[in-house]
Amino acid sequence: MHDTPLLVVENLNKHFLLHKALKQENAVYVKAVNNVSFSVKEGETLGIVGESGCGKSTLGRTLIKLLEPTSGTVFFEGKNISTYGKHELRILRERMQYIFQDPYSSMNPKMTIRDIVSEPLENFRKDMSSSEREERVAELLQLVGLSREAMTRYPHEFSGGQRQRIVIARGIALNPRLLICDESVSALDVSVQAQIINLLQELKQKLSLTYLFISHDLRVVKFISDRIMVLYLGEVMEIAPSSALFENPRHPYTQSLIGSISKGDPRSRAERHILEGEIPNPMNAPKGCPFSSRCPVVMERCHSEKPQLQSVGNDHVAACLRLTQTISQRTGDTV
Ligand SMILES: Nc1ncnc2c1ncn2[C@@H]1O[C@H](COP(=O)(O)OP(=O)(O)O)[C@@H](O)[C@H]1O
Ligand SMILES: [Mg+2]
Repeated sequence: MHDTPLLVVENLNKHFLLHKALKQENAVYVKAVNNVSFSVKEGETLGIVGESGCGKSTLGRTLIKLLEPTSGTVFFEGKNISTYGKHELRILRERMQYIFQDPYSSMNPKMTIRDIVSEPLENFRKDMSSSEREERVAELLQLVGLSREAMTRYPHEFSGGQRQRIVIARGIALNPRLLICDESVSALDVSVQAQIINLLQELKQKLSLTYLFISHDLRVVKFISDRIMVLYLGEVMEIAPSSALFENPRHPYTQSLIGSISKGDPRSRAERHILEGEIPNPMNAPKGCPFSSRCPVVMERCHSEKPQLQSVGNDHVAACLRLTQTISQRTGDTV
């Protein structure tokens, strides 16, 4: 891993307009991504977790401009890509790839695996001859652990894990720097999840990739991530190295998420009910801390004051008013 950041995100917002109104202040927005800032080093895997509906996919899509951000800045390889036009975005598409949530719906069932994997080559490597493309597809399939014979077959002939491999082969076809994997293993059995995670780790080494690994399942994110960012209602609650996040989680939301892993198998419950209570409707988010309506240690001021991210350790930040309180109390003690 290098110290140079590959991706730097500053105050990114993506608000969906739900209802227009005559007066701007009466318009209804879903604030899916709210003032999100973080960076990812070259060669690093940043896990992004949070319950379903917390804005993980919207964040991923906005980062690579599949969605237009409402505001904020994104730097990739040192360049401000927020201002990129069509031509520059095309180049960007080669450098950053998004692996969609559901491999089945992101593959055309009528296309052969050869056509699916070679699609980016046909769009972006027009100078390649068809035999060169054929060779490249075979090489990509081999990289993801599939045989050349897979080429002439169709998506339905493969298992969920194999389909995920095919989607990964397509995702790495253009030699990207950054892969955004969105719930890439969530639909798979635990043993198959482990195989795909191993494959991703292996490819990361071989191809010097950097990952944003999105999942609602903290257990999955734990094994692959160097650092983890916890989102709640579109806002960053905590960012920490993977080990620090599990050993010393500082935000009550992170603590609840970790606590819920040990309480039986969360997969048997609906994603939304990992914790007590419902996630508030993002159209009607709490005014102060977004987690205040479910927080087990909520204080009066949490309903009106918005906590800011603050340093709580080495490379570790969290946004909770209790942390501010502890620090100011401590300062008070020494005065
Ligand atoms: N195109 C859209 N229009 C309006 N609201 C949307 C749209 N896409 C996502 N949302 C809303 O944004 C919030 C975050 O969604 P999403 O990013 O899919 O969350 P996650 O991936 O964490 O499950 C949700 O409340 C969702 O309903
Ligand atoms: Mg999602």
